[in-house]
Amino acid sequence: MCGIVGYVGKKEASPVLINGLSKLEYRGYDSAGVAIIENNKLKISKCKGRLANLEAKLQQEPIHGAVGIGHTRWATHGEPSDLNSHPHSNEDETISVVHNGIIENYLHLREWLTSKGYKFMSETDTEVIPHLVDYYYQGNLEDAVMKAISKMDGSYALGVVSTHEPGKLVAVRKDSPLIVGVGKDEFFIASDIPAILNYTRDVYLLNDKEFVVITQDGIKLLTEEGDIINKDIFHVTWNADAAEKGGYEHFMIKEIHEQPKAIRDTMTSRIALEKPITLDKISLTKEQLENIDKVYIVACGTAYHAGVVGKYAIEQLARIPVEVDIASEFRYRNPIINEKTLMIVVSQSGETADTLAALREAKKHGARVIAVTNVVGSSASREAHDVLYTWAGPEIAVASTKAYTTQLIAMYIMALYFAEQKGTLSSERIEEIKKEMLQLPEKAEETLKHKDVLQRFASKTYMHKDMFFLGRGVDYAVAMEGSLKLKEISYIHSEAYAAGELKHGTIALIENGTVVIALATQDNLFEKMVSNIKEVKTRGANVLAFAFEGNNDIEKTVDSALYIPKTETVLAPVLSVIPLQLLAYYMAVQKGCDVDKPRNLAKSVTVE
Ligand code: F6R
Repeated sequence: MCGIVGYVGKKEASPVLINGLSKLEYRGYDSAGVAIIENNKLKISKCKGRLANLEAKLQQEPIHGAVGIGHTRWATHGEPSDLNSHPHSNEDETISVVHNGIIENYLHLREWLTSKGYKFMSETDTEVIPHLVDYYYQGNLEDAVMKAISKMDGSYALGVVSTHEPGKLVAVRKDSPLIVGVGKDEFFIASDIPAILNYTRDVYLLNDKEFVVITQDGIKLLTEEGDIINKDIFHVTWNADAAEKGGYEHFMIKEIHEQPKAIRDTMTSRIALEKPITLDKISLTKEQLENIDKVYIVACGTAYHAGVVGKYAIEQLARIPVEVDIASEFRYRNPIINEKTLMIVVSQSGETADTLAALREAKKHGARVIAVTNVVGSSASREAHDVLYTWAGPEIAVASTKAYTTQLIAMYIMALYFAEQKGTLSSERIEEIKKEMLQLPEKAEETLKHKDVLQRFASKTYMHKDMFFLGRGVDYAVAMEGSLKLKEISYIHSEAYAAGELKHGTIALIENGTVVIALATQDNLFEKMVSNIKEVKTRGANVLAFAFEGNNDIEKTVDSALYIPKTETVLAPVLSVIPLQLLAYYMAVQKGCDVDKPRNLAKSVTVE
């Protein structure tokens, strides 16, 4: 977690750093800080709370200088406080560091440095870094940083400045993202591209243990041995506006509305009528697919929920057994992986630590790995054998919406591709499903129109402390996602249940007025779902049901109903999740929650 930025140029660094940090608050926002070299002295300003606090502080006490680093924090080691905020410095404030990641052996390093006379001010793991750099400094900052990282275990993206060499910024990464922006007479480092898009579109994407040394004269990319690296510039084609709110009150509602386009973009050039499905550059022949005895889909959070739908789709359409795993569980349960395993990792950011660890574990055991990710050049995209991008555009709100629907599309495209290659479906059936998929953007647009029912329901129920989400088949997978959305942004406790499972215990919690959201889009399970709804209605539940248009009979059983356009049942999640996202959003707005930056969360979880 955490976001870092750095600047070397001719402008005042302070506003550039603040602007960059404002685009990275999705990575953490419990404190922020900058260190700028002013007249050969390090000036540091940092404080607990949102970036706005730091901005106010800098307005009161401005810092002038054209070289600096900045940080927005998501606390791991040490509570959010002024003292634990980054940047961290050595004792005489000649070296300052911003860090994203976790130094796993920091306690050992701290003890060792203490024995050498170094004093620590904070509870953070990061504070060992400026002291280590200080210990190794012998006239060259990059050499000292190289020696320091050779002692560090764990993950890091670092930006380091020093008054010993006041025009220089050194940065390096390992298992945490870092990009380098190249402008005209100015250079940047950042955890993510939106932080620098106001200044340049030309970036270098750093790999693990690659260093960048920036001065006013230019930049040098180095290996950890100090050898020069020649790299191509990556030109960002998407617009800075894509990362702005564009008139919406929150990024989340903007991103919910972007789903029809995101869905369309993710299908473009992959799905077309009467043409074979293409998976970009990925090729899996019939023989290769027949050699695969198991698919693992591994991911976290919302991406995991997309994986659960992926399991249903791949098993149903391509008849390949699929296991879906939560990445943090997968890596430690000694899973059975070999050359016959196909691993699909799903990650919006492509930087989630647990998902990357699972990817590496699978590769180590000979599996072929496909990454489904939204971020071009992300670690997942570079480390997997193959990559299938979701073209959702930048997702800024912490709560994932358009990334999820495009992940679903990626799952369907793969399932259909596998089915086509293996011949598990007739070509007519594949054409039927493709036809339905191509109509999803319009149907998603249609689904977005049902706001009034949801606003009304939210305004009546937002004070509730608990809610339940029920479904069967893929509706259950969507229920899990609806429940997560509600929890994370409105702080209402909720649980998702496979509707048939409720009566095995949890139904004891249903009482007069309990809110139940029931999904009933699966034709073959519709009657059974109606029976499950009756079970909770009889016990006093207040039920809002989602069904396909035409299934209006459901109104006889429930308190409120919302209809979504009819589509293939396996594709229903793309549409049924939209009202669930809207419902969570309206609940959170009613409660006055900070929708885009919910408490305790960060967009990119780069720690275990
Ligand atoms: C929830 C949410 C998280 C992420 C999870 C994985 O709205 O966004 O649950 O889905 O942290 O993140 P990625 O997809 O970046 O690996």
